Amino acid sequence: MVRVLTLLTHGALASSLLAQELLQYQNNTFNSSYAFSEIQIDAANISDSVANNVQVALNVERTNWATGSVAEDQFYNPPPVNASTPPGSLLKVQEYTNTSTYTLAPNLALSRILFTSVDFNGSIVPASAYVLWPWQARKFPDSCLNVSGVPAVAWAHGTSGVFGECAPSHIRNLWYQFSAPFTLALQGYAVVAPDYAGLGVNHTAEGDAIVHQYLAHPAAANDLFYAMQAAQMAFPELSKQFITMGHSQGGGAAWATAHRQSVTPVEGYLGTVAGSPDPNNYENIKATSGFGVAPRIARGLSSIFPSFNYSEWFEPEGVKRLPLLEELSGCNSVNGELFPQAEGLIKPAWEENWYLRAYSNISDPSRKPISGPMLVVQGTGDQAVPAAAVSKAVNETCAMYPKNQIRYASFEGASHVPVLNAAQQIWLQWIEDRFMGKDVDEGCTQEYHRPLRRRVASYQKELEYYLQLAVQSYEVA
Ligand SMILES: *[C@@H]1O[C@H](CO)[C@@H](O)[C@H](O)[C@H]1NC(C)=O
Ligand SMILES: *[C@@H]1O[C@H](CO)[C@@H](O)[C@H](O)[C@H]1NC(C)=O
Ligand SMILES: *[C@@H]1O[C@H](CO)[C@@H](O)[C@H](O)[C@H]1NC(C)=O
Ligand SMILES: *[C@@H]1O[C@H](CO)[C@@H](O)[C@H](O)[C@H]1NC(C)=O
Ligand SMILES: *[C@@H]1O[C@H](CO)[C@@H](O)[C@H](O)[C@H]1NC(C)=O
Ligand SMILES: *[C@@H]1O[C@H](CO)[C@@H](O)[C@H](O)[C@H]1NC(C)=O
Ligand SMILES: *[C@@H]1O[C@H](CO)[C@@H](O)[C@H](O)[C@H]1NC(C)=O
Ligand SMILES: *[C@@H]1O[C@H](CO)[C@@H](O)[C@H](O)[C@H]1NC(C)=O
Ligand SMILES: *[C@@H]1O[C@H](CO)[C@@H](O)[C@H](O)[C@H]1NC(C)=O
Ligand SMILES: *[C@@H]1O[C@H](CO)[C@@H](O)[C@H](O)[C@H]1NC(C)=O
Ligand SMILES: *[C@@H]1O[C@H](CO)[C@@H](O)[C@H](O)[C@H]1NC(C)=O
Repeated sequence: MVRVLTLLTHGALASSLLAQELLQYQNNTFNSSYAFSEIQIDAANISDSVANNVQVALNVERTNWATGSVAEDQFYNPPPVNASTPPGSLLKVQEYTNTSTYTLAPNLALSRILFTSVDFNGSIVPASAYVLWPWQARKFPDSCLNVSGVPAVAWAHGTSGVFGECAPSHIRNLWYQFSAPFTLALQGYAVVAPDYAGLGVNHTAEGDAIVHQYLAHPAAANDLFYAMQAAQMAFPELSKQFITMGHSQGGGAAWATAHRQSVTPVEGYLGTVAGSPDPNNYENIKATSGFGVAPRIARGLSSIFPSFNYSEWFEPEGVKRLPLLEELSGCNSVNGELFPQAEGLIKPAWEENWYLRAYSNISDPSRKPISGPMLVVQGTGDQAVPAAAVSKAVNETCAMYPKNQIRYASFEGASHVPVLNAAQQIWLQWIEDRFMGKDVDEGCTQEYHRPLRRRVASYQKELEYYLQLAVQSYEVA
């Protein structure tokens, strides 16, 4: 009797009751226990406390790998490609990805693909992407666009880091989890999400390095279009029409898709959602003094301007830390511990250096024409990408190109990633309207949203949780 009841109520609980196994605490380093050597600490000249913090951060990052290191997961080994391989070619399909080591919302499914993209300077590069599948496709029976199949959204993630290991497709929660990809899939969209070239697949078949060109938005826009093209080839059930959407780094990438569409139109493109976009790195860094981005940008920038010397931006102590960051393939958490907002690592006026200004100029998709409608969502409490910089970019773009269809929606007090929660109804409705084929008037519009409970302080401000894989039957909350 007991047996039947427990089986009916909770499978995992039932098995633990039946077997009476001894429960264990789950360690926060339970799937990684990397420890530094003295040689590494001396070479980077870091204190014991910094070494400790970097080590903890690294083990958290590594514990969140769903399929181990990208160096060991054979999926990320690309076949040979060369200048005559067309961009958007499908190189590899993993139709079924075993999600038992991911922390997906229940009743979603995952596939992964390799495809060819084009880097900033026009070289063909292999890259990876995931496809997150809904349980059922959202239907648009009354659409004037004749949408058939699973409606597709090309998703551009925010900064995860710049090394191979920072690929969302091998991270348990796919990096942005409920902030966008899980939500989209639970609403019936298929999410096609490139890792951006250089993340995931970080070398060619011949072993040459593929460097992620961080914040070089036109390159990321290539990744979005070509990932979608290859995914549509791999999975004919995907709709021909698609939306591009991104946040932060990915917001800049999404904006760049809207501009690219005016230069190189792609059939099926319906518009873009740019969350907290960072179109011009220089202006954003000016507004935030964001030290953490210097190591990330420097690496990609040197693949575009090979004459760049790290000493242009970094103090000697900072230069010593860069090889350790590279050796560890450290992502956001490690980067933050190794390059804190502290003196002595990065030169005070580094943002005025020629290289950053030149890099921003060639990357910036704003102050340019776009094709199709674009929704910009922005929190006024954003400290990573301040609203003033985004509002300025939008206003200047609209003044220069009054026919651009840009809707700027700002949300009182909302912070960086959490604006996606505040704005969720707005962007989901906007995406639905595009698949319905609704027209958008020419020109720009602006709107300001206030919270229901009047006091912004009444609301939970930041993402104060993270997802952890449950490996024990008692881990249910
Ligand atoms: C947690 O760490 C302890 C000590 O290293 C170990 O005995 C135990 O098996 C670990 N627990 C799990 C669930 O991995
Ligand atoms: C290591 O850093 C300290 C400051 O933290 C500095 O005084 C020292 O000269 C550095 N050592 C080397 C070998 O660079
Ligand atoms: C733990 O890490 C190993 C090696 O990276 C990997 O093969 C394994 O799948 C991971 N286990 C879990 C539960 O993620
Ligand atoms: C390019 O790759 C294709 C397919 O692997 C191969 O057939 C062709 O010979 C290669 N071309 C060059 C110039 O290497
Ligand atoms: C997924 O992997 C887990 C752990 O290796 C295994 O127990 C399970 O059978 C796999 N699922 C499928 C459907 O292959
Ligand atoms: C609608 O799309 C389907 C599938 O792509 C196609 O077979 C059909 O001819 C289309 N109908 C119209 C009216 O375009
Ligand atoms: C790719 O990433 C792996 C895992 O971090 C690392 O061992 C390897 O050196 C990287 N390859 C290149 C060419 O950067
Ligand atoms: C890449 O393109 C930029 C902008 O056109 C140019 O300034 C730079 O020299 C190019 N770099 C390489 C490595 O070709
Ligand atoms: C970079 O600049 C430093 C300091 O000016 C110099 O010592 C070093 O040789 C330069 N490196 C390269 C590769 O030019
Ligand atoms: C970047 O663009 C700004 C604004 O157009 C211009 O003033 C500046 O000279 C440019 N800098 C470089 C290095 O290209
Ligand atoms: C952009 O334009 C709007 C509407 O005219 C205005 O309220 C806002 O202050 C402008 N933003 C900036 C940064 O000037």
